[in-house]
Amino acid sequence: MASRAVAVLLFLGGTLLSQEPLSRMAQPRYEGDKLLRPEGYREWIFVASNLGMGYTAGQPQANPSFHNIYMQPEAYRYYRQTGRFPDKTMLVMERYSAGTIASINRRGQFQDRLLGLEVALKDEQRFPEKWAYFDFSGSGGALRGQAAPFPKQACWSCHNAHGGADNVFVQFYPILRK
Ligand code: HEC
Repeated sequence: MASRAVAVLLFLGGTLLSQEPLSRMAQPRYEGDKLLRPEGYREWIFVASNLGMGYTAGQPQANPSFHNIYMQPEAYRYYRQTGRFPDKTMLVMERYSAGTIASINRRGQFQDRLLGLEVALKDEQRFPEKWAYFDFSGSGGALRGQAAPFPKQACWSCHNAHGGADNVFVQFYPILRK
C-alpha cells in the first residue's frame, strides 16, 4: 500500500515537474499579423553556432557568416524529454560576420558584426502549417522591431522537407540531435 502511495506521489510530482515549466516559457508577441522581435533570448539555451552554411552546391562563400541559434529553456527541456517541440517554441538565429586579424588574432575567425536576426516559431493555433518564419534584419545590421511571416514556399518548404525533426534542422545542432 505504502509503496503504491509513494509511486502515485512520484508520478504526480513528475507530471507537475514536466508540465509546470512550460507555463513560464517566453511567448510570442504579435501586433496585427506581425511578430514582435523576441527579447531576452541571449539568456535562453545556446543551441548551435554554424559557420558559412550554404544550401546550394558550389564554391564556399567568400564571406562566411556565423549563425548563432537560441531556444527557450522550457522548450529545450520538453524536446529532450519527449522528442517534440512544444507549441510556442521559438528558435532565434543571429547572423554574424566572420572577422579575422584584429587585436592579437592572427588566424582563425571570430564573430564580428551582427548582420541580422531570423526566427522560426511554432504556433499551432495561428499558422495552418504550425511553423512560420520571420526576418528582423534591417539595413547595416540594424534590427527591425516587427516582421511579417514569409509565404510558405520561401522558408517553410525547405525546413519541412529537410529539417531533421518537426521542421527544425536538429541534424546540425549537437545538443538537439540524438
Ligand atoms: C533551402 C533550404 C532553406 C530555406 C529556403 C530556408 N532555410 Fe532556414 N535553415 C536551413 C538550414 C540548413 C538551417 C540549419 C542551420 C543554419 O543554417 O545555420 C536553417 C536554420 C534556420 C533557423 C534556425 C532554426 C531551425 O529551424 O533550424 C531559422 C530561424 C531559419 N532557418 C530561418 C529561415 C527563414 C526566415 C527563411 C526564409 C526567409 C529560411 N530559413 C529559409 C535551410 C533553409
